[in-house]
Order: sequence, then structure tokens, then C-alpha cells
Amino acid sequence: MRLSYRSSKTEVLESKIHGRGLFAAANIAKDEIVAVKGGHIIDRKTLRETITPRLGPVEIQIDDDLFIAPVTDEERELSMLYSNHSCNANLGMRGDITFVAMRDICAGEELTHDWAMTDDDDYSLECKCGAPNCRKILTGKDWQLLELQKRYAGYFSAYLARKINAYCHSERSREIP
Ligand SMILES: C[S@@+](CC[C@H](N)C(=O)[O-])C[C@H]1O[C@@H](n2cnc3c(N)ncnc32)[C@H](O)[C@@H]1O
Ligand SMILES: [Zn+2]
Repeated sequence: MRLSYRSSKTEVLESKIHGRGLFAAANIAKDEIVAVKGGHIIDRKTLRETITPRLGPVEIQIDDDLFIAPVTDEERELSMLYSNHSCNANLGMRGDITFVAMRDICAGEELTHDWAMTDDDDYSLECKCGAPNCRKILTGKDWQLLELQKRYAGYFSAYLARKINAYCHSERSREIP
């Protein structure tokens, strides 16, 4: 039995961004639910020490120290959404685990989210999304970028939206360099 939900309008195919990706198999309307992440709720220490080394990147972050992920090889395929990151994403978040279309999406388009919408972490990674507005280097603190806060308003994870609200009031938001 699947742990995550993927709309019947999606399919997993080879991606130009990385490995396999999630694609629209039919037209998807703005704000339609595309996927819901399921798995176990685990803390960062457990993720880093026991999950990532065995299963790779399989989680989504749902709060400062909480993630949802599969914990066994068998569960991996049942939990994976295969959504890659893009700096020109077409999916956003509703709450902390539900992915929705941020605009009307045509059949055949790759379904991507921007990790800035879900992550508050300390990583830095070269982006291969290929979008004209690619940031080239992604970091786990990209949610702090003012331009992204404006672009993705209403589509951040609920836990990040709360942080952004507090952050804006402290006037510390950064510009993209
Ligand atoms: C949850 S997986 C996404 C599915 C993955 N393509 C697969 O086939 O398993 C997330 C991983 O995909 C890769 N990835 C996704 N989007 C990327 C991007 N824009 N640039 C570089 N790597 C990316 C990274 O290795 C990341 O850790
Ligand atoms: Zn990019």
C-alpha cells in the first residue's frame, strides 16, 4: 500500500534535471492537489544517521527538527514523490505535506517544487534545473530570500510561512546575490 499520494494525473519518468522526475500526464489546474507526502515522522539526527545513508534523499522537512520519510527499502518506493527541484517551480505547498499546482500546468510538463518552499537546513548544492532564472547554488536558507518570499507567497510550507512572518518583521530578509 502506498504511503504517499500521487494524483492520477501524474507519472514518473526520466528527468532532464536529475534521475527520475514527476510529470503531468494530463492538464492540471492551478491549486489542484498533485501529491501528498507520507511516511514516518523522524527527527534530523535520525534522518542524518540512519535514513539518508541507507535510502538517500527521500524526505521532506515539515518543521525545524521534523521530517517525513520512509524508513525501510520496501517503504522507499511507496513514499517517494520523485519531484525534483526547479528555480522555476510549478508546485507549491498547502500545509506541510501537500503539493499543489501554483499555476495551470500542461500535460507533459515536469512537476517541480523549489526547496526554498520546504527547507530550513544548512546544505549548499549546485542546481541543475536549467531554468533561465536558476540560482546555480541552492542553500537550505533560501527561504530567507526576499524575492522568493514574494514569488512563493501563499505556497510556502506552513512552518516556513510562520518563520517568514516573524523574519519579515525583523527586517532581515536578504536579496538574491
Ligand atoms: C527526492 S530526490 C528527487 C528524485 C530523484 N530525481 C530520483 O530519481 O530519485 C532529490 C534529489 O534529486 C536531485 N535533484 C533534484 N533536483 C535537483 C536539481 N535541480 N539540481 C541538482 N540535483 C537535483 C538531488 O540529488 C536531490 O538530492
Ligand atoms: Zn536552478
